[in-house]
Parts: sequence; structure tokens; C-alpha cells
Amino acid sequence: MHVLSVSQFHNETIQTLFALATKYKKLDQTTAGRKKLHSLHTGNQLCSLFYEPSTRTRISFEQAALKLGMGVVSTENAAEFSSASKGETLEDTMRVLNGYNFDAVIVRHPETGATDRAAAVSTTPIINAGDGKGEHPTQALLDLYTIYEKHGTLEGLTVVLGGDLKHGRTVRSLVRLLARYKGNRFVFVSTSELQIGVDIKQELAHVGCTYTETEDMKQAFKNADVVYWTRLQKERLETKLTSSKEFILNKQTIAYLPKKAVIMHPLPRVSEIHTEIDSDPRAYYFKQASNGLYVRMALLHTVLSSR
Ligand code: NCD
Repeated sequence: MHVLSVSQFHNETIQTLFALATKYKKLDQTTAGRKKLHSLHTGNQLCSLFYEPSTRTRISFEQAALKLGMGVVSTENAAEFSSASKGETLEDTMRVLNGYNFDAVIVRHPETGATDRAAAVSTTPIINAGDGKGEHPTQALLDLYTIYEKHGTLEGLTVVLGGDLKHGRTVRSLVRLLARYKGNRFVFVSTSELQIGVDIKQELAHVGCTYTETEDMKQAFKNADVVYWTRLQKERLETKLTSSKEFILNKQTIAYLPKKAVIMHPLPRVSEIHTEIDSDPRAYYFKQASNGLYVRMALLHTVLSSR
């Protein structure tokens, strides 16, 4: 079982995964629980192959594996320190890893579709940790888990997503997931240059989900249940932006947000969320990041159990 896109998950599988993540989160709070977790996958091994920088995804996956008793082999800068720098193809690297008998390989790569290419030749399950402007399925799962934790439902929500919606893969995966639940409405806040992809808009229209696009944060924040903010993906810009307009979450702008709203961000944040709002009860991005550990533990267990 490869994990390449959010589209491969049925809603029931997601619920099972979330229940497991909650169980693991609880077990991790006690010494006896941690011992139990550690006994689950002793003898299994994870390889993490990152061709792009990462903090949360790589570290939480490796920590997830270690907590489950697995061993970890990691290349955190594969673009420079693996044979990719000598010209080896991703496919050949995967063919080599096939012979080392790992139980799962986590791959992050700057090219959209690279993880599909890796999976095509891999006999070991591949987990997509972000492929270019494509998808980031494990981030979307932890985002969805966080929304469920906060609101107790995944239906009938007004979800406002803002920032660089054109190049951000986390937004693409999350919208795809949320669109499968009844009654969710989307409000996209960005400049016209950084709007979410036409493919995602078409998918929303196809399933009958309503969405609006705006540059007016005050208007967008009315009735919001979730506010999901993102940074400008400078490394993925093809041309210089003509508009320098930024959408900043600070004390002044979040004053328009209802009390019930949860403020999320996949992180890293740069200048789009001021630290002055970190102590606001609605600011949830660091807790969201910590949920990543448990969702990834649950996902690793599921992938390993399916072999
Ligand atoms: C995101 C990514 O890599 O797409 N980071 C993450 O995994 N939490 C978001 C980003 O880099 O902006």
C-alpha cells in the first residue's frame, strides 16, 4: 500500500486512522503506554528520503517510527548528499532501496508527480511527504484530524483558506479531503496571481461544493469555522509577482473572526501570522503540528499492517 494522494482514502479508513491516532496520543502520555507502543513494530525499518527541506514532516515521521519501535535510516538532504547529485535517477535509487528490504520509504521531492514515479518501481510502500505543487496527503490527514478534534464534525463547515493557494500543496490536499464531506463551504483568500488551481475548482464544482474567491479578509472571516493560512512558496514561483499584497493574521485582522474559529497553518510561518496572536485561544497551529506525530504513527501502523 503506497500513500500517494488523499483521493485513495475512503472516509471509513480515515475514521479508523483518526481513532488509532487518538489511542496512540493517549498511550504516549504514560510510561506503560510508551512501552506498549514501542513493542508494536520492533524489527521494522523506515527509510526517509528528503530531496527538499523539511522540519515537521521528516522529524515527526522519524519520531513516529521510533516510538513504534522501528529503526530509521534517513537522508535529510538527498538532493545534495545522495547519488542524485551524481545524476542517479529517482527510479534507480528506488530500485536500490528495494534490495535493502525496508518496510516503508517516505519521499519528499520538488517535482510534482515524483512520488508516483518512485512508487511505480518500488516494491516497498512509498509515502508521499510532499511532491512539488502536487499533494501532501499526510499533512492533509493531520489537518483534517485537527479540524475534527476542534469541531467534532467534518461536515457543514465554513473553511477559509488564504495565502499562496497556487503553489501550496497542503491546501490542495486538504480541500480535496474536505470536499468529500457534506455541506462544507470554501472561501479562498488570495491575490488573482496566487489563486487555487483550476483543477481543484473543477473538482469542487463537480461534487457540488460552493466556493468563493476574495481579497477581502473581513468579509471572508464572517462565520468562519476554520481559517487555514499559508506562506508564499517563494521557491516555487515561476515569475516575479506583480502584486505585493499580503494577507496577514494579526490582532487587528483576527478581530473579525468568530470565537468558534480555529486558526491553522501547516508551518513554517514566515510573516503571514504575527507572533502577537500565538496566545489567542483560537491559534492552533502548534497543536496541529503535534497532532502530526500521532496521525503519522497511525498511518505507519496501517501501512505496515497491510503488507
Ligand atoms: C508544508 C510543505 O512542505 O508543503 N510544510 C509542511 O510540511 N508542514 C508547507 C510549506 O512549506 O509552506
